[in-house]
Amino acid sequence: MSDGVHIELRKDGPAIVTGPFTLDDGVEVAAGEKVALCRCGASGRKPRCDGAHKAAGFEAAGVEPPRKPD
Ligand code: FES
Repeated sequence: MSDGVHIELRKDGPAIVTGPFTLDDGVEVAAGEKVALCRCGASGRKPRCDGAHKAAGFEAAGVEPPRKPD
């Protein structure tokens, strides 16, 4: 893994972006810290994902999200 910004597109969901970078609102995301950014347009907390993509029926290519333990 590199020390730079890493972007992973989740299937039917957000972009998981790993810092370091600065959001438009000035919030700094530290190296190694992850933020879920909306790519469906339905979030009420843009640029962050708030899970609204599920109710919106957003469909897009990407990697499957990690499975939650049973
Ligand atoms: S991608 Fe999750 S709310 Fe838009």
